[in-house]
Amino acid sequence: GIDDFVRLARAARPGRVARASAGGKINLLLDVARPDERGYHPLRSLFCGLDLIETVTVTPRLGERVDVTTRCASKQIGDLAGLSTNDHLAVRAVRAALARCGRQAGFHLDVDKHVPVAGGMAGGSADAAAALRAAREAFDLDLSDDDLHEIARDLGADVAFGLVGGLALGLGYGDVVTPLGPAPTRTFVLAINERGLSTPEVFAAFDASGAGRAACEDALSPRWMQALADPDPSALGELVSNDLTDAALSLRPDLREIMRAGDDAGAVCTFVSGSGPTIVALARDDEHAAALARALAAAPGVAATVIATGPVVPGED
Ligand code: C5P
Repeated sequence: GIDDFVRLARAARPGRVARASAGGKINLLLDVARPDERGYHPLRSLFCGLDLIETVTVTPRLGERVDVTTRCASKQIGDLAGLSTNDHLAVRAVRAALARCGRQAGFHLDVDKHVPVAGGMAGGSADAAAALRAAREAFDLDLSDDDLHEIARDLGADVAFGLVGGLALGLGYGDVVTPLGPAPTRTFVLAINERGLSTPEVFAAFDASGAGRAACEDALSPRWMQALADPDPSALGELVSNDLTDAALSLRPDLREIMRAGDDAGAVCTFVSGSGPTIVALARDDEHAAALARALAAAPGVAATVIATGPVVPGED
């Protein structure tokens, strides 16, 4: 009868088109301990999700074919032309979600990028996080949020944050993420570099310098919590820090000049994003951000500047 027909039609259908978003991030705090046996570093990271949002659309298809189209919102974001389908973190994320449910399927991915590539802002991790959410819906996968979180951690240390966004504390290897709730929105100017910087190389330079902490604290101090809640960014500017700064600057002494340009233009603070090479300047307000952007754009080695706000949770206004 008709019920059998509907059941059969549903079973034959590979799934439905689904879309999800996740944002890039900067780290307002990055404490790094000495590496474990695997070479991974225990961290204390304060993630701030930005309004630079990646959107991933999963289209299930009959058969096993997998492909991906990546569209970059502007030239200054960079390009992923050299990346193979199998290495694309969004593709790996969808495959991991399917595999977790004992399934294999063909699909097309459409990735709409707004996070600059290879700048230490976790754009690839955001693609993976959005892909996990979209794949769950597209293939109607029986996965809880905790399941997604576990799959995320295997894909990369920053993917778990991509699932949450906003302002969040990252412990463990940065993959044990606790959301910190709403906070005043800040405006940041990102100085995108002409050249990339390899994250493993920055961590190796950090290890060679012997700068690793014995252990990381597992919470934020009351002073930090107050600074985060204060609409005036001055107190926050005094606390922002990144243990990887010296390692990044040892590999790329030229970045110092960009940081100086931010400081000279009156940034509340100027810092390295994650493992770099992106330099971030915290602005007092939108007008100040425009002035900072002009100053940073004139610094040597800066390919482009991007004004971004955060903390932002994708899908919330
Ligand atoms: O996890 P993800 O693939 O994003 O990390 C990239 C690189 O950063 C790793 O290969 C490792 O060298 C380094 N890393 C680390 N400790 C962490 C996170 C990343 O050493 N907690």
